[in-house]
Amino acid sequence: MVNKITVVGAGNVGATTAQRIAEKALARHVVMVDVVEGVPQGKGLDQWQSAPIEGFDSRVVGSNGYEESAGSDVVVITAGIARKPGMSRDDLLNTNAGIVRSVGEQVRKTSPNAIVIVVSNPLDAMCYVAMKATGFPRERVIGMAGVLDTARYRAFLAEALDVSVLDIQAMVLGGHGDTMVPLVSYTTVSGIPVTQLIARPALDAIVDRTRNGGAEIVKYLKTGSAYYAPSSGAVQMVEAIVKDQKRILPCAAWLAGEYGMRDLYLGVPCKLGRAGLEQVVEVTLTPDETSALAKSADAVRELIAVIDKGA
Ligand code: NAI
Ligand code: 2OP
Repeated sequence: MVNKITVVGAGNVGATTAQRIAEKALARHVVMVDVVEGVPQGKGLDQWQSAPIEGFDSRVVGSNGYEESAGSDVVVITAGIARKPGMSRDDLLNTNAGIVRSVGEQVRKTSPNAIVIVVSNPLDAMCYVAMKATGFPRERVIGMAGVLDTARYRAFLAEALDVSVLDIQAMVLGGHGDTMVPLVSYTTVSGIPVTQLIARPALDAIVDRTRNGGAEIVKYLKTGSAYYAPSSGAVQMVEAIVKDQKRILPCAAWLAGEYGMRDLYLGVPCKLGRAGLEQVVEVTLTPDETSALAKSADAVRELIAVIDKGA
């Protein structure tokens, strides 16, 4: 347990993340920050009132400012807007970049030693904005998307094979979008290569469904996007850091030569511990996976270029 964890953005992902952090007792104090008056305070009070029933002692509070969050050990950034009719992808990018930049600047001032986990979309580009705004080293600004994409892939595989989700080992790398790269060559069921257990067309369909996993939920919900699995993903990363678990999870990390790339955020296997990103783990990829990762990197670079142009 650490002393304080802040979740910025008390919307669907943020509030569920705060609740999961409290229920797992990962911090003594859990602070939700949002710009909407009353919402973080109300949700925080409501969550705190569940403590006697759920049996946790993490004190949850909400705020419209950063005083309450000062000195946080970990900050999860979920603030942002969803795309509205008439808005281009670049409009969303620039609007959320403005929000994440202002959040990052506040975090730099009030929690200068925090480890930041970015969730806001477009994920890889928002990690870049957060790293620049906080001025924190890459070890302390990490993005959550690969854990979610991998969870979707594992869930779909477990369903198709009629086995426990716990026995599916897999990783989805690359940017958080259509170009993500599920690593079939590293997908196993209790060590058995998945290709020995499922026909290729069925596996390809699962890979495709994983790439469109976010859109599938939006189509059902209509007014918003997924938040139960995304908050689980963010909290798995928080837990790995807080408990110094040294877990190897697919996260968005700032590359400095790994996988032959640099100066961009991309989903890669990362070792997470108390220092944050403790290592980018390099694995051998098939030629197809290598070119898919390069294509995904190009998509992220395009977004970063738009941000740099607007900055
Ligand atoms: P939401 O609309 O429910 O919540 C967003 C919250 O951010 C709102 O409460 C809003 O008031 C707040 N906000 C806006 N500007 C702010 C600011 N300057 N400071 C503090 N709070 C501010 O949206 P939801 O569903 O919670 O999603 C949040 C973000 O996470 C979106 O950008 C979404 O696309 C992204 N997301 C990313 C995933 C990933 O895998 N990386 C998965 C799911 C969502
Ligand atoms: C998702 O994948 C919207 O990025 C979000 O569900």
